[in-house]
Amino acid sequence: MQLLTLISLAAIALSSNAHPTRARRAASNLLTVPLRRSERDSGLHVDLLHQKQINRAERLMARAAGLPPPSEAQLRANLERRASFIPDISKRSNSNISTTAFDDGGHQYFMSLELGTPPVEFNIVLDSGSSDFWVASSQCTFNGGSCQNHTFFDSQKSSSFVDLKQNFSITYGSGAASGGIVNDTLVLAGVQMKDFTFGIAHNISQEFATDHNIDGLMGLAKAGVGIRNAPPPQIVMRNRGIIDQAIVSFRLPRFVDHNVGEVTFGGLDSTKFDPSTQVTINSTNSGFWIIPLDGASVNGKSVKIQSNTGFMDTGTTFLLMPEADAVAVHQQIPGAQHKNGQFTIPCDTKATVSLTFGGKNFDINPSDLVSGAPKNKPSDGNCSSRIGVSAKSSTQWFVGDTFLQNVYFSTNIDENTVTLAKAI
Ligand SMILES: *[C@@H]1O[C@H](CO)[C@@H](O)[C@H](O)[C@H]1NC(C)=O
Ligand SMILES: *[C@@H]1O[C@H](CO)[C@@H](O)[C@H](O)[C@H]1NC(C)=O
Ligand SMILES: *[C@@H]1O[C@H](CO)[C@@H](O)[C@H](O)[C@H]1NC(C)=O
Ligand SMILES: *[C@@H]1O[C@H](CO)[C@@H](O)[C@H](O)[C@H]1NC(C)=O
Ligand SMILES: *[C@@H]1O[C@H](CO)[C@@H](O)[C@H](O)[C@H]1NC(C)=O
Ligand SMILES: *[C@@H]1O[C@H](CO)[C@@H](O)[C@H](O)[C@H]1NC(C)=O
Ligand SMILES: *[C@@H]1O[C@H](CO)[C@@H](O)[C@H](O)[C@H]1NC(C)=O
Repeated sequence: MQLLTLISLAAIALSSNAHPTRARRAASNLLTVPLRRSERDSGLHVDLLHQKQINRAERLMARAAGLPPPSEAQLRANLERRASFIPDISKRSNSNISTTAFDDGGHQYFMSLELGTPPVEFNIVLDSGSSDFWVASSQCTFNGGSCQNHTFFDSQKSSSFVDLKQNFSITYGSGAASGGIVNDTLVLAGVQMKDFTFGIAHNISQEFATDHNIDGLMGLAKAGVGIRNAPPPQIVMRNRGIIDQAIVSFRLPRFVDHNVGEVTFGGLDSTKFDPSTQVTINSTNSGFWIIPLDGASVNGKSVKIQSNTGFMDTGTTFLLMPEADAVAVHQQIPGAQHKNGQFTIPCDTKATVSLTFGGKNFDINPSDLVSGAPKNKPSDGNCSSRIGVSAKSSTQWFVGDTFLQNVYFSTNIDENTVTLAKAI
């Protein structure tokens, strides 16, 4: 209870220092939209953020395996257990908990689109690990109160709005949203799509309420994952001939790249990757973007791992793996230490961790292995590792942004494939 209060009180500072280029539609039926990064400087201890990521992974793993998801109580217990390891958390009576450790607020990637008539602009998180599209509604409540500072969808103000008189409810590893399903006009990269089906959330959880940069979420996993039976947006666009194939490609932005990224619907943007490194890999038949993981290495030296698949998820901040694999990887990173199920590595590590997919090695930039913006580096020089342990033993890695921001990442529902290439 204490912990939950703490989390709700956490101040959220936002930065969106992006300089996006204009959305554009190329001749070859590609829709490209700037992708920006919402930095959640939540004031929350990095270990708790880390645990939230693990909770998300646990839930996704259960869903992908067709098993019942872990209960809310279980996920909360995970967080409380994690909090008990943080030495001075009990002394903290407010949200000022980021002084000792590595404030890595986690982040989300979002794009802008317009909904309704006249069109209203919304900022939408892109998530390759779910498949519902919703925005917060003007009736939105959070814990029975205000949903805070967002753009809300007001059905009364849109002349093209149609109420489908159905409800949706979706729970993420961290966060939840529920409300009604509607049709209205969507404008993406200047292209207008009438009668697009999406959810308008009347009830959202703290994670969404407090991230003022975002007004909704678009899931881009395969069909059949969503709670309701609407096809994913890339299928809708392909069916309407707006794009040729149900492809979504991501160049995720990060600070060292000056925060410029983009998402392309309908194909790949060849200016964003090195074609000599391009590889296309069959995905498994689950609703998610799961592909074979061939191996891993540190500084060119192969690491013995027990896992053989990667769950590619833009909604996971870290790279999460079973404990034995995380131990094996960190053993090869000079100066890494293992404590309470988590790892620290020297903040200035030069270690290069590589993942092998489709027979090709893809390096992680050493700076992506450590948590904490430069200003928040702990004085002892040991940073929290952005490679973590997913709670359940399995043979799957959750391949989140620690890795994905180093590559061009493209998904194709029509071919059921993932394409990776070194990002440029
Ligand atoms: C947070 O803690 C730091 C270091 O203890 C202190 O300097 C700062 O004033 C505190 N801020 C707030 C808002 O309490
Ligand atoms: C609400 O959010 C917008 C966009 O992030 C920001 O420009 C504005 O200052 C915020 N308003 C308040 C009252 O916080
Ligand atoms: C949708 O949810 C609302 C409020 O929870 C409820 O009153 C309504 O009956 C539900 N509608 C359908 C079609 O389930
Ligand atoms: C809502 O949109 C879908 C997809 O375009 C369409 O098939 C359906 O007929 C629409 N429903 C209504 C009530 O307009
Ligand atoms: C809103 O969501 C919270 C959990 O996020 C849930 O406890 C509550 O019952 C929901 N309220 C409504 C009206 O659906
Ligand atoms: C990928 O899937 C296609 C179509 O199902 C199949 O023809 C091809 O052999 C597969 N490739 C590999 C490497 O498994
Ligand atoms: C920091 O890591 C080094 C090993 O790289 C270790 O010797 C030292 O004890 C660590 N410091 C703390 C405070 O854990």
